[in-house]
Amino acid sequence: MRKPIIAGNWKMNKNRDEALQFIYNVNMKVPSNALVETVVCAQAPILRDLVKRQGDNLRVGAQTMHYLDNGAYTGEVSAQLLENIGVTYVVLGHSERRAYYNETDSDVNKKVHQAFRYGLTPIMCCGEELAIREAGTTDAFVKEQVVAGLKGLGSEQVKEMVIAYEPIWAIGTGKTATSEMANDTIKAIRNVVKGLYDNETAEAVRIQYGGSVKPANVDELLSMSDIDGALVGGASLDAESFLILANAALK
Ligand code: PGA
Repeated sequence: MRKPIIAGNWKMNKNRDEALQFIYNVNMKVPSNALVETVVCAQAPILRDLVKRQGDNLRVGAQTMHYLDNGAYTGEVSAQLLENIGVTYVVLGHSERRAYYNETDSDVNKKVHQAFRYGLTPIMCCGEELAIREAGTTDAFVKEQVVAGLKGLGSEQVKEMVIAYEPIWAIGTGKTATSEMANDTIKAIRNVVKGLYDNETAEAVRIQYGGSVKPANVDELLSMSDIDGALVGGASLDAESFLILANAALK
């Protein structure tokens, strides 16, 4: 049984007060970490404050990081510092990072390795644009991203990490992939992992769906055989809504 993981990706939203209020509102109400992992991924300057106030069942994640330890990379955040301040998850290769900051599959791969070096759990994103979905080449496209992203990782690492399948056309658009569509692509990803490693690794790796997940569609998505949770943008900003999503993973 794979433990579901619900991760909120707040993107460039929430000031410190709003974020702390959110933590205060959800800390005692999220499901036990033994059953569901819940994570909120916030802007870097407030991560330390959130870590200090995270309850037993809530974890804090970053939204990106650099793949090197330190150096002349103005504006970047290192894995070393994230580990140092108690952050435990990091979203890597989100489609917005790929689109606006030119992150490549090879960058994402280096970042995943770096995350492991510092004990951070990577949530590695993949997903296709609408044109690719319409051309019917989604599986091949996503396979390339996943193969490149996992390059050089051992099976024990892959079992520990999280992959988020996020079709770009479904992010922030209100358009969700149908649950069958999401499940089929996630199965295809699991099959890629099986081909690269073995059945045991493929059965262990958690693969989330992301893209307009909300209280109204979460139950159906999470009821699918291969969907192990959700990476949620818009609907993770509101505490009540986040709690509905987190509790949906209990079922
Ligand atoms: P959304 O964002 O839930 O607002 O579509 C998902 C994401 O970008 O991770």
